[in-house]
Amino acid sequence: MSQPANLEARPGPQPVSPQGPAVPVDHRHDPAFRWPARVPWSVLEPDFTGAWGLADPGDPQPEGLEIIGQTGSGKTYLLCSALQARMVRRETPAVIICTKKADRVFARLGWPVIDRPEDVNKHPNAIYWPTTSAMGNQRKAFYDRKIGDLLESLWVEDSNRIVAFDEIGYAESLSGDMRATVQQYWREGRSLGITVVAMKQRPQGTQRDMHSETYWTAAFKPKDRGDLERWAELYGHRRDWMPVFDSLDRPAHGDRGEQREFVIRHSRSDEAYISWIDTPLHPVDPPKPKGPAWLGGKKPANP
Ligand SMILES: Nc1ncnc2c1ncn2[C@@H]1O[C@H](COP(=O)(O)OP(=O)(O)O)[C@@H](O)[C@H]1O
Ligand SMILES: [Mg+2]
Repeated sequence: MSQPANLEARPGPQPVSPQGPAVPVDHRHDPAFRWPARVPWSVLEPDFTGAWGLADPGDPQPEGLEIIGQTGSGKTYLLCSALQARMVRRETPAVIICTKKADRVFARLGWPVIDRPEDVNKHPNAIYWPTTSAMGNQRKAFYDRKIGDLLESLWVEDSNRIVAFDEIGYAESLSGDMRATVQQYWREGRSLGITVVAMKQRPQGTQRDMHSETYWTAAFKPKDRGDLERWAELYGHRRDWMPVFDSLDRPAHGDRGEQREFVIRHSRSDEAYISWIDTPLHPVDPPKPKGPAWLGGKKPANP
């Protein structure tokens, strides 16, 4: 069949060549991609803290945050800095669920360590850190019960707090029930005013809900270059984001000293920055609890 001479000018589908459909030259890149600006945390933090969950000030919605990086990357340091800022600027209650044996970073936050769910009433900003000498399966059963108790007691109307998992992969590995509860937190916690924050070692592995329900993603540079691809895919096109992650500094590897750089992105606004915590973490005492919500934040006359 002969082709009409004026094919180029005709609207509608173009003919497909024997090599397959024509693809734009730059198909592996996102035309909207912009290299993220490098902004130290001391400059970024006020905007971040002001925007987190307040994208629409008339309709504040909890926005989940995931922090990804291998052990020693600086995840806990970033978490503590971000939660301290929320406490100082917005008095947001937050509980960090911790299962590690010892983590000195938490001591720099200045928050009390609690191990009973009811203690959050007295200490709205606290580290939930139950300990046991049990080993193996008994240890898992212990943490399963303790974390389960906490998550159950925080599941109330107007819970209005941040629930942070220092190691979400560990929590999810405790039992099928815990996995389902964590999933429920991701999916439905927002309706109770619960903001979920999760730290993990690698982008893959955890439940898909985490990625689809998170609005903020912060990721440190992977130790192994072979992992760059998976890290990049979290953010968009590999070709765009692999060089970004490759450019990140980390101690003993970079040329900008000892900075632990991370990329933080807000999926709602599609804004991303390369940042690093340049403000030392110092203990700040949490504000006094305000009393039950039905008292409108006022202390009862006869406490
Ligand atoms: N921005 C920072 N400035 C100074 N020290 C940091 C910073 N980030 C992390 N560190 C230190 O590096 C070590 C590892 O950080 P940490 O947050 O515990 O990593 P992760 O939670 O990813 O294992 C800790 O001793 C912590 O105090
Ligand atoms: Mg940590």
